[in-house]
Amino acid sequence: MKTLRILLALICSVQCKSPNIVFILTDDLDVAMGGMTPLEKTRRLLGDAGATFTNVFASTPICCPSRSTILTGRYQHNTKVLNNTIDGNCSSPAWQQNMEPSSIGAKLQPLGYKTFYAGKYLNMYGFKKAGGVEHVPKGWDSWNALVGNSRYYNYSISRNGKEEKHGDNFTLDYLTNLVANDSVNFINAMKPDSPFFMIVAPPAPHEPWDSDPKYADLYKNLTAPRDNKQWNIHRADAHWVVRNVPNPMSQKSTDWSDNAFRSRWRCLKSVDDLVESIMNALNETDLLDDTYIMFSSDHGYHTGQFSLPYDKRQPYEFDLRIPLLIRGPGVKPNSTIEYTVSTVDFAPTILDLAKQNTKKLFVEDGEFDGMSFSPLLNGSVDTSWRQNILIEYHGEGLNDPATVYGCPGLGPGVSECVPDCVCDDASNNTFACVRRQIFTENLNMTDDLVYCEFQDQENFVEIYDLLQDPAQLKNLRASMDPSKLQDLNLQVIDYCTGIFEGF
Ligand SMILES: *[C@@H]1O[C@H](CO)[C@@H](O)[C@H](O)[C@H]1NC(C)=O
Ligand SMILES: *[C@@H]1O[C@H](CO)[C@@H](O)[C@H](O)[C@H]1NC(C)=O
Ligand SMILES: *[C@@H]1O[C@H](CO)[C@@H](O)[C@H](O)[C@H]1NC(C)=O
Ligand SMILES: *[C@@H]1O[C@H](CO)[C@@H](O)[C@H](O)[C@H]1NC(C)=O
Ligand SMILES: *[C@@H]1O[C@H](CO)[C@@H](O)[C@H](O)[C@H]1NC(C)=O
Ligand SMILES: *[C@@H]1O[C@H](CO)[C@@H](O)[C@H](O)[C@H]1NC(C)=O
Ligand SMILES: *[C@@H]1O[C@H](CO)[C@@H](O)[C@H](O)[C@H]1NC(C)=O
Ligand SMILES: *[C@@H]1O[C@H](CO)[C@@H](O)[C@H](O)[C@H]1NC(C)=O
Ligand SMILES: *[C@@H]1O[C@H](CO)[C@@H](O)[C@H](O)[C@H]1NC(C)=O
Ligand SMILES: *[C@@H]1O[C@H](CO)[C@@H](O)[C@H](O)[C@H]1NC(C)=O
Ligand SMILES: *[C@@H]1O[C@H](CO)[C@@H](O)[C@H](O)[C@H]1NC(C)=O
Repeated sequence: MKTLRILLALICSVQCKSPNIVFILTDDLDVAMGGMTPLEKTRRLLGDAGATFTNVFASTPICCPSRSTILTGRYQHNTKVLNNTIDGNCSSPAWQQNMEPSSIGAKLQPLGYKTFYAGKYLNMYGFKKAGGVEHVPKGWDSWNALVGNSRYYNYSISRNGKEEKHGDNFTLDYLTNLVANDSVNFINAMKPDSPFFMIVAPPAPHEPWDSDPKYADLYKNLTAPRDNKQWNIHRADAHWVVRNVPNPMSQKSTDWSDNAFRSRWRCLKSVDDLVESIMNALNETDLLDDTYIMFSSDHGYHTGQFSLPYDKRQPYEFDLRIPLLIRGPGVKPNSTIEYTVSTVDFAPTILDLAKQNTKKLFVEDGEFDGMSFSPLLNGSVDTSWRQNILIEYHGEGLNDPATVYGCPGLGPGVSECVPDCVCDDASNNTFACVRRQIFTENLNMTDDLVYCEFQDQENFVEIYDLLQDPAQLKNLRASMDPSKLQDLNLQVIDYCTGIFEGF
């Protein structure tokens, strides 16, 4: 019986029914600093049984803008979601009117998909100015979204528009487990003949790092990695924010970043459990062979790299690189895929998988800025795969940081000044970058570059050759071949004409 079902599933995945798709979206999970290490079951269940992408980048290293991009397949300068506030269009009325109705959920629902969302959505979701919990975005049959930014306890969920309040009883309220339970319940209610699409968005490993009590004693002696040339390093030739953070780091900053590092791993253990629960539910309902399961993050993270105590928002590998694991029909088991992928590609890929359509969807049709990576999943070589992606970010700055952080002497225009008044962001930490990777036919990488232009008083430029300098310790802006420099500059202009005045 089981064999017959598998056979049917294989035939049907091509001919009869669209596959199910489960997208697990973590919050702040890096890949460059070992973030996948505690996720042992996830690596086994998804990585060993499917494909692990090794060059995946957030098109913007910040929550709400990145999530908006993931939902729509559009770059930040097209979603117009600039930062995590309503004024920056995070879950704003303008977003709700212009972008949200064409999210990936809204695209799959008319194809016959039952759609499900659980966990963190957009940082301002559910707030009064964002329409309150009654606002249920178009395209979701089962809507179970967290109000506001990541929490583990003491939060509200919008259950299809009705507020459900949660306290801090682990058994009843621990959010990662609640999201897992909701997901399992949804899967158990599905019928084999109707496809479903799920976004499962646990809060981890974002702050405030409340872990499952059974994991609270793990990693007691773990610190942020010291052996990667970046930790506690002063970057004199980097842009304003980075070259101005104190070095060496204070003991308080060091302790803070080490605590962040190990607390993140503890919270990830529950994400690993969530992945296992979902896999078990799919297996027990005989849906596994007909389901794609993807696992990723909205952006990376840093804990002490370049002496930045802890945050994201910088155009370096630790903040930009994210994991991407996928298993499902036709995905080559235990495979590694090196082609360059961006968060703008997630929505077009999901739509492509749903349509069982191996054609690439390009920018030309105006629907997406990204392209489908589904043709790569069976291990195909594609020498025409793109070589450049855009990274962009709008720095956040507060008018009076002294009142917010109690830091005398900090001028306006900086933010994320925790702990010890060390700032990880500023309004002129606004940049557009080209991330370039070129492969030969045998997948030898011949170019691995990042080129960034900052919108600050210096029109600062940073360039790294990752082949020579994987830790990004030497800014090549003064020594780069001028023709290559011009080419990179034109590529930025090409991507983002109109993003910043003056470009
Ligand atoms: C995947 O590869 C690892 C070693 O690289 C091996 O231990 C494991 O058995 C493989 N798993 C599958 C499902 O092929
Ligand atoms: C917010 O988005 C709308 C269009 O959706 C746009 O007109 C407006 O300029 C955006 N706001 C900002 C601050 O970019
Ligand atoms: C949840 O809120 C209650 C009441 O405000 C507070 O006492 C408790 O410490 C909070 N729990 C957590 C984990 O923040
Ligand atoms: C948490 O909820 C469970 C289930 O309702 C209950 O048995 C337990 O006593 C509660 N724990 C606390 C500390 O209130
Ligand atoms: C999730 O489900 C498990 C198993 O039924 C239960 O023990 C746990 O308390 C639930 N957790 C939450 C937060 O609902
Ligand atoms: C952790 O470090 C303390 C001293 O700093 C040491 O006594 C203890 O054995 C270490 N624990 C582990 C599990 O390595
Ligand atoms: C599915 O369940 C079967 C037992 O029913 C087990 O042998 C198999 O390993 C499970 N597969 C996954 C991926 O969990
Ligand atoms: C992958 O699938 C495509 C069509 O979907 C096919 O053209 C290609 O040959 C396949 N590649 C491999 C390595 O199986
Ligand atoms: C977010 O962007 C809006 C629009 O540019 C701006 O008014 C607001 O100050 C920004 N918020 C922060 C914290 O930088
Ligand atoms: C890969 O490319 C590098 C230069 O980009 C070259 O030095 C090296 O010989 C190449 N290796 C192979 C196996 O082609
Ligand atoms: C960046 O902004 C800060 C805070 O407003 C300011 O002090 C600094 O001079 C600016 N740096 C550059 C290079 O624009």
